[in-house]
Amino acid sequence: MKILVLSGSPRGKSGNTYRLMDSAVRGAQDAGAETVFIDITKKEINYCTGCSTCYSTGKCIHEDDYEEILALILESDGIILGSPVYINSVTAQLKTLFDRMPDAVHCQMLAGKYGFSISTAGGSNADLVCDYMNETLRFMGVSTTGEVYAVMAEDDNAFNEACNNAYELGKDLVAAISEKRVYPEQDIIHGEMHDRMKNIVLSNKNNWSHEFDYWKKKGWL
Ligand SMILES: Cc1cc2nc3c(=O)[nH]c(=O)nc-3n(C[C@H](O)[C@H](O)[C@H](O)COP(=O)(O)O)c2cc1C
Repeated sequence: MKILVLSGSPRGKSGNTYRLMDSAVRGAQDAGAETVFIDITKKEINYCTGCSTCYSTGKCIHEDDYEEILALILESDGIILGSPVYINSVTAQLKTLFDRMPDAVHCQMLAGKYGFSISTAGGSNADLVCDYMNETLRFMGVSTTGEVYAVMAEDDNAFNEACNNAYELGKDLVAAISEKRVYPEQDIIHGEMHDRMKNIVLSNKNNWSHEFDYWKKKGWL
């Protein structure tokens, strides 16, 4: 079982977010998973230009590290996202990665995977940033198993508790994948997304041939 950890913290391994992510990684490893950690802030990921080339060809116009990261995402069973709060949102680096993934959304490429999100903030909104990252995962078809965050202005006990929770969530992610855990409320969301994306792909089938072919091959049309 492979768990991919994508870090959007520019402070890397000396950052607060890394400490929570590391706890989650240890939890997943102790439960038997293989983990791969990618610091996306050290990768070259260019901005989406909105050209729609990926919809029609499955390839981006940029030649950078995105393809390698997408391949890692697609071969993983579980995904852990981590980002500090930067002005009430994820870091620009993580958002830039998300923005490169509309083809993955249209094709619901991450359907069947599980994941969760981690955030730290100086003072506030780490919960909202976790919610946003989890919503983004679900947008692509992932079932989310929880979230863990810490506000650095709080005391050390709160941070240590968050580390423990991250460890437990890491372990629980492995359990969710093993047992193919069902989240009935999320299945409704996935079903609605599937129908929405199907309509988009069908309405654009003459222009977005890659997406139409992808859906056909999946047996979804
Ligand atoms: C550019 C920037 C923007 C930030 N914006 C916020 C913010 O909006 N709200 C907040 O509570 N903390 C904010 N912070 C503080 C970080 O979220 C906090 O220190 C976090 O733990 C850093 O994580 P890291 O050590 O993994 O980089 C900001 C920090 C930076 C550098």
